[in-house]
Amino acid sequence: MFQTTHPREQLGQFIPIHYHGQMLANTERMQAFKSAIESVVRPGHQVLELGGGTGVLSCFAARCGAQVTCVDANPEMIHWAGQLLRQNPGGERVNLVLADAMDYMPEHPVDVVICEMLHSALVREQQLRVLDRFRHLHQQRFGFLPRFIPDTTLLAVQPVQQNYDFMGYHAAIPLFQHASTEHKDTMGLGDPFIYSVIEYQEPQSLLQKADIVFLAHATGTLNALRFITKNLVAIIPEEGRSIDWHCQYLVLPFAEPLQLEKGDRIRLRFHYMAGAEITQLNQSLLVQKLPQGDINQLFQGMPHEVRTAARAQA
Ligand SMILES: C[S@@+](CC[C@H](N)C(=O)[O-])C[C@H]1O[C@@H](n2cnc3c(N)ncnc32)[C@H](O)[C@@H]1O
Repeated sequence: MFQTTHPREQLGQFIPIHYHGQMLANTERMQAFKSAIESVVRPGHQVLELGGGTGVLSCFAARCGAQVTCVDANPEMIHWAGQLLRQNPGGERVNLVLADAMDYMPEHPVDVVICEMLHSALVREQQLRVLDRFRHLHQQRFGFLPRFIPDTTLLAVQPVQQNYDFMGYHAAIPLFQHASTEHKDTMGLGDPFIYSVIEYQEPQSLLQKADIVFLAHATGTLNALRFITKNLVAIIPEEGRSIDWHCQYLVLPFAEPLQLEKGDRIRLRFHYMAGAEITQLNQSLLVQKLPQGDINQLFQGMPHEVRTAARAQA
């Protein structure tokens, strides 16, 4: 086993091999990362993948002519990746390393870092912690920053009415939803609001928080929040476009549903650390219907960003 200075719960998830099968079969995810890698990686590049799993993304980078180092903390995945890379063209250009991505720093600088430890709302996985630390150390040691795949993650939240009836069995529990499918059991009651923009080339705080006022654009029961996680896997300025991929939506119920009329204003607050368990986010949720009235009086005492966001919607 390798040496690490971090407790097991900070390592990120040790995902069993059958879930890696689901990730490989997720064509939207695979296509986005493959296209991003092909747009960014050039022959002769040094590429580092942090959290390489089966080695698939490292192999895509190797096929672009890069020399690749693929790091994973799970010995089982290093074993699988070793076997799979031997069966795949390009695999011979991938060097596997069993290490904690939170501690790992290569001896030579790298041109591109790939890290897909993404999770809805950036909970549970250590994507942000790993990349923020890597960015800092790489800059300090080599004096420049590599490109990151993904480039940016946008976190948004939307108030919704969620049907929690499962064939007559009521279960208001966290749900995951495929992002590009219609969900007839979920009704949006307000517009999504972006509460965090994470550019991996910039210093980042682990603390994710929101204090927002929503305007209800429909009448209904506000009983959950939908968390939207959009990844700009690569930005291609010359073509004026980005290659995007959404993590699954996370729909979190809260204890006391609110009846809303169209035009009601709702104040919503939450905070959590990126990489924390979903319960930390759930426990911090505060949702409150604001009294009708003069908008300026209503917002007295609220932080400046909340007033601005609320006025923009009013
Ligand atoms: C979501 S999977 C992605 C695997 C692969 N990159 C892909 O796209 O198919 C994340 C991987 O990160 C690894 N991982 C989680 N925490 C880690 C850490 N602290 N250091 C290194 N690897 C880690 C897991 O073992 C897992 O294989």
